Amino acid sequence: MDDRARYLWLKILTILGPTIFVAGGELVRTYYLSSHFSPALVSVITVVTTLIGAILFSWYVFRAMERLETERRAYKEAVLSLRERERIAREMHDGVAQNLAVLKMEAYKLKDLSQGNQEVREEVETIDKLINQTYLEVRQTLYDLRASRRLHEGFWPTIQRQVEEFERQTGLAVEFSPLDPPAEPWSELASVQILRIIQEALANVRKHASARRVEFSCARQGRTVEFVIRDDGQGFAVGDMELKAHHYGLSVMKERAEAIGGRLSVESQPGQGTTVALIVPVAERGFDSGKGKAHVGG
Ligand SMILES: Nc1ncnc2c1ncn2[C@@H]1O[C@H](COP(=O)(O)OP(=O)(O)OP(=O)(O)O)[C@@H](O)[C@H]1O
Ligand SMILES: [Mg+2]
Repeated sequence: MDDRARYLWLKILTILGPTIFVAGGELVRTYYLSSHFSPALVSVITVVTTLIGAILFSWYVFRAMERLETERRAYKEAVLSLRERERIAREMHDGVAQNLAVLKMEAYKLKDLSQGNQEVREEVETIDKLINQTYLEVRQTLYDLRASRRLHEGFWPTIQRQVEEFERQTGLAVEFSPLDPPAEPWSELASVQILRIIQEALANVRKHASARRVEFSCARQGRTVEFVIRDDGQGFAVGDMELKAHHYGLSVMKERAEAIGGRLSVESQPGQGTTVALIVPVAERGFDSGKGKAHVGG
C-alpha cells in the first residue's frame, strides 16, 4: 500500500469503524443480551465492551499514524540527503573533475616540451599517471553519487549496472547471482542504503584488495535477504581498522545497515581475502511495506 492508500484506509476506518461497532453492539444488545441478562448486567457488558473496543481502535489508529509519520520523516531526510549528494556531485564535476581534465592536458603539453630531457620526462609521466588515477577515482565517486537517481529504473538493473561498471574499471569478472526471482522484499527506504553498502564494498575491493576473483551473491533466507561480496585479495586485520582514523567506509556501511534494521559483518585476515555480508530484514506486509519511493535516499 502506498501512503495515499494507507491514509484512505485510515480515514475509512475512523469514519466507519466506530459506527459499525456501535450499530452492531446495539443489535446484539437488543436481540440477544436484553433477553438473556438483567438490565444491570447488560449495562456493565456494554460499558466494558465499548471501553475495550475504543482502546483497541485508538491503539491501532495511533500506531498506524505514528508509523506513517516516522516513514514520512525518514523520507524527507532522505530527499534532503539526496539533494545534498547531487550538490556535491555537481561541485565535484564543475570543480575537481574539470580541473583534472585541464591538468591532464597541461601534462601532455609538458611531455612534448620535455622531449630532450629524460629526467623531466619521467617526472611528467609520474604526474600524468597520478592525474589519471585521481581522475578515475573522481569519476567513480561521481558515478556512485548519482547511482541512487537510477534506482527508479529498478533495484536489480541498477545493481547490475554497478557490477558492470566495477568489471569495466577493474578488468575483473564478478560472479554475480542476484536474488531469484528478482524481488525487492524490503522496506521502501532500504533500497538506497543497500545500494550504497554494495557500492562501498565494491569500491573497497577495487581500491584495496588486489583480488583475482570476486563473488557477489544474494539469497533469501526466511525473513531476511543476505547479500555477500567475497574477494580472494590480500585481506586485512579487521580489528586494527576500528582504530584507524580517516577511514569511514566500513563504519558508514555498518551504520547504514543498522538504519534499515539490518546487520553487516566483515570477515577478513591478511592474505585470506575479505567477505562482506549484509543481512536485510524482509518488510512486513501492510503498514511496513510499500514501494514506489525507492529512488529517494542518501
Ligand atoms: N576488500 C578489502 N580488501 C583489502 N583490504 C580492505 C578491504 N576492504 C577494506 N580494506 C581495508 O580496510 C580499510 C578501511 O576500509 P574503509 O572502507 O573503512 O576505508 P577506506 O576505503 O580506506 O577509505 P574510505 O573512507 O574512503 O572508504 C582500508 O583502508 C583497507 O586497508
Ligand atoms: Mg572504503
